[in-house]
Amino acid sequence: MADNFYKHIVCIGAGYVGGPTMAMIAAKCPQYKVTVVDINAQRIKSWQGNELPIYEPGLLDIVKKTRGRNLFFSTAVEENIKAAEIIFVSINTPTKTYGSGAGKTADLQYWEKIAREISKVSESDKIIVEKSTLPVRTAEAMERILRVNNKKAHFEVLSNPEFLAEGTAISDLENPDRVLIGARDTQSGQKAMLEIVDIYKHWVSKDKIVTSDIWSSELSKLAANAFLAQRISSINSISALCEKTEADITKVARAIGMDRRIGSNFLNASIGFGGSCFKKDILNLVYICEYYSLYEVAQYWENVIKINEYQQTRFVKNMVNAMFNTLANKRITLFGFAFKANTSDTRESPAIYISHKLAEEHSRIIVSDPKALDNAQYDLKGIADCVEFELDPYKAARNAHAIAIITEWDIYKTLDYERIYQQMEKPAFIFDGRNILCHKKLYKIGFNVYPLGMPCMQHF
Ligand SMILES: NC(=O)c1ccc[n+]([C@@H]2O[C@H](COP(=O)([O-])OP(=O)(O)OC[C@H]3O[C@@H](n4cnc5c(N)ncnc54)[C@H](O)[C@@H]3O)[C@@H](O)[C@H]2O)c1
Repeated sequence: MADNFYKHIVCIGAGYVGGPTMAMIAAKCPQYKVTVVDINAQRIKSWQGNELPIYEPGLLDIVKKTRGRNLFFSTAVEENIKAAEIIFVSINTPTKTYGSGAGKTADLQYWEKIAREISKVSESDKIIVEKSTLPVRTAEAMERILRVNNKKAHFEVLSNPEFLAEGTAISDLENPDRVLIGARDTQSGQKAMLEIVDIYKHWVSKDKIVTSDIWSSELSKLAANAFLAQRISSINSISALCEKTEADITKVARAIGMDRRIGSNFLNASIGFGGSCFKKDILNLVYICEYYSLYEVAQYWENVIKINEYQQTRFVKNMVNAMFNTLANKRITLFGFAFKANTSDTRESPAIYISHKLAEEHSRIIVSDPKALDNAQYDLKGIADCVEFELDPYKAARNAHAIAIITEWDIYKTLDYERIYQQMEKPAFIFDGRNILCHKKLYKIGFNVYPLGMPCMQHF
């Protein structure tokens, strides 16, 4: 290599995973040159400026420190593949919408395209690292494509799934619970694995770097997401029972979470999970189980998704029931649109489904969110005529009949609800889809309050 770097890493895919993970590697390993490439020129341009294409706390700082030093963003995919010794692939893996496995399995056409491209342009040996979440045995298929089409170079395919959570990506990357690396049990497989371990060793302690075979690594990522989503659906299912029986889900969650065997994380009842991963990864798991005729197992996991959809449907039904069985021409303000706090990501956000349901009820929807309004506008293109977008929550709530808390952004906890109440239509309703507000205080102000999984507080 012409430059003085120890090794050249390339990451294909400058998204929510590729951008932050590579920024962290560049920050911790200054002797590596890290280049993130993408076919989306607009995205690359944003990575090169001050308005990054994704919002993630702490990300801009780390990018500013490393960019131009050993972190680079580029659209020159081919040229950078050629120059790299290590290639992370972090492209999106959407659910297939056609043919066999439609609606369940991952659409691997983009993955295969990348494999063919790497194989076409490579003149030297490369380690290919799967960062994307992929169905079990994708690495095997990739190896075949690479080897058949290129006899000059040796390709070693590894699995290194990413466990970061959006909104806390930088701290998750800096301080991961574990880093998982799956490799073949061959001499070259183990050698390649050590090269990837070497990268993480710069800041992750040895006991947190877990190695395994490739298939177990791929399956671990699908299973981890399925378990996390399952916890959300489990607590949400109990929230429905609480509403009918006047138990309080926050008390139930606290009591069960104190059991060390259960633990307290991921026990907040809500309008359900969103994000680009949980649903698609569970669907992949379901598909694999069906493929192996494990129908009971497939159904078990599919129900996690069904409860998630049920929770969103229930939320809108509760709104209709509470507001005298009609939402027609009523202004409903959504506080939050992102699928969770501290991210601009709205992929699979419950807000999308809820907005469409409200539009079906002929409501006027006012969407407010500190970071996700651009994405929200894109998501709601189909119902644009009944939606308004407003950054300022006070303005968004003016003349509203109801507020629905959709995303647990901190700012919504500290708003002046007295002031908001004064400017709303009466009776004023608040539906706390995240249970983040002080319900007693709101009730005192005059709101009719509908938390999730606990008795509502109404003035009539
Ligand atoms: N988002 C998360 O929180 C998260 C966490 C862990 C794992 N993952 C997994 O990581 C993968 C990536 O997710 P993401 O959220 O970063 O996706 P993303 O959509 O934000 O980014 C993917 C990027 O890949 C680019 N791309 C697609 N095909 C390409 C090609 N042929 N050449 C170059 N660039 C190409 C796209 O333009 C896009 O910018 C997925 O498999 C996902 O399941 C995501």
